[in-house]
Amino acid sequence: MKIEIGKDFPKYFKASYPEEFELFSHFEVTAGIPTVLFAVTTWKENGKPNVCFHSWSCFHGDKTAFFAVMGNLYQHTHTYSNIQREKCFCINFLPISYYDKLVDTIKQNEMETDEFEAGNFTLSNAKTVHAPVIREAFINMECTLHSTQDLSGAGITAMIVGQVQHVSVDKEYTQGYKKRYGKEGFMLLIPAPQDLVTGEPNQSAIATIIIEKFD
Ligand SMILES: Cc1cc2nc3c(=O)[nH]c(=O)nc-3n(C[C@H](O)[C@H](O)[C@H](O)COP(=O)(O)O)c2cc1C
Repeated sequence: MKIEIGKDFPKYFKASYPEEFELFSHFEVTAGIPTVLFAVTTWKENGKPNVCFHSWSCFHGDKTAFFAVMGNLYQHTHTYSNIQREKCFCINFLPISYYDKLVDTIKQNEMETDEFEAGNFTLSNAKTVHAPVIREAFINMECTLHSTQDLSGAGITAMIVGQVQHVSVDKEYTQGYKKRYGKEGFMLLIPAPQDLVTGEPNQSAIATIIIEKFD
C-alpha cells in the first residue's frame, strides 16, 4: 500500500511553524530527500564578502564540462543578486562541525555584514573567478554563471547553473574515502519528513555519510 500525495496541499499536513508551507512545497516534506549542504560565497556590491548556506542542488556533467546545479536559490538573497551581477560564485564544502558557524552567517545577514567575520571563516581569493572562498572548506569549487531559470515562474526562487572552472581539495581529503565521508566529510540536509499518516510535522536533520558497500 502507498500513501498518495497530489499537487493540492494535503489539508491534514500540520506545519511545524506558521510560514512553513508559505516557504516550501508540501512535496519537499512528503519525500524528505537528502541533499548535500555547502556554503556559496560571493562578493556583495559594497565589497563585503557574503556566505550563504545552501542545500538544494546536484553536480554533474559530461567530458566537456562539469556543472553545479543549485536547483533552488531564493531570489531575495544577497547571493542571488551577487551572482547575477558578478556572473560567478564559489561553492565550499565544510564538515558538520561548521554547521553553527554557517547558521551565524544567516543570523548576521545585513548588507554591511562581513559574513566571513560573522562565521569566523578565513577568506582566500578564488583562483579563476572574482569570488571569495572559505579556507576551512575541504573542497572549494569555482564557478562561472552558466544560466538562471525561474522554474516555477513565481519570482520566488531560481535554478542557478554554474560551470565549474576549478576545484581545490585539501590534501588530507585527497586519498580515498577517509575524511571525505563520515563526520569530517560532506554533511547533508534531510528536510523534515512529514508523518504521512497523521500529518504531524517533524524536525529537519543534518546527516553525514556511512559507506555500506563498494561498487
Ligand atoms: C540548512 C539550511 C539550508 C539552506 N538551504 C538553502 C537553499 O538551498 N537555498 C536557499 O535559497 N536558501 C537556503 N537556506 C537559507 C539561506 O541560507 C539564507 O536565506 C541566507 O540568509 C541567505 O544568505 P544571503 O542573503 O547572504 O545570500 C538554507 C538555510 C539553512 C539553515
